[in-house]
Amino acid sequence: MVAGEAKPGQFVMVRTSGTLEPFLNRPISIHRIDEAKGIIELVYQVVGKGTKLLSRISPGQHLQIIGPLGNGFSWQTGFKRVALVGGGCGIAPLLALAEKLLENEREVYVLLGAQTKEKLLAAEEFSQLGCRVRISTDDGSQGKKGFVTQLLEELVNSISLDQVYACGPLPMVKGLIKIAEEKGIPCQVSLEERMACGVGACLGCACPVRNPDGTVGYKRVCHDGPVFDAKELLLDNK
Ligand code: FES
Repeated sequence: MVAGEAKPGQFVMVRTSGTLEPFLNRPISIHRIDEAKGIIELVYQVVGKGTKLLSRISPGQHLQIIGPLGNGFSWQTGFKRVALVGGGCGIAPLLALAEKLLENEREVYVLLGAQTKEKLLAAEEFSQLGCRVRISTDDGSQGKKGFVTQLLEELVNSISLDQVYACGPLPMVKGLIKIAEEKGIPCQVSLEERMACGVGACLGCACPVRNPDGTVGYKRVCHDGPVFDAKELLLDNK
């Protein structure tokens, strides 16, 4: 059921069943969607109690899953050349997006950043789909030594893009937005945020935004996002 409704950029709230410890669900991006088989793939990093428990489940064990949640990425039929930029676990939601964008024979550039070669996600999968993949690692163990923002800078200086999609750590996202803005390229950003309820009820994931009248407002990353037009985000206030 989740696979039948899911869109690239959406997420699910997951909890291992049979325990109240930890109490809260964990938000995890949908990495891949196979509608025909009714399967979604999730990618996550073990960072705390919840994800540690999740990493210990056995095949066949049941999980509590709420979703798909959030808005997901959007695209226009006229887009011909796009760049997907991901850092760390922020790469996870971009694979399903790449699959969708390639259905219409778009040129899809994928720029992936990680601390080290070992922490790099899904590079092979993107290449197999037919994306033009470029890689950076902080220590230079794979691809270019440095940050993924530098890869975007090089790309926008060599070709024109219709859209940038980005997901990753906040400093990286801020850098990408700046580059896209300077070149006048529309940019959609999927924000990574801690979430308690995941359905818009607790306001724990509020993010400052620019209202159409210029005033500052707040939107819920889980319910109004996690994907936002970069122009409306006020990430310096976070
Ligand atoms: Fe509760 Fe977003 S996590 S409102």
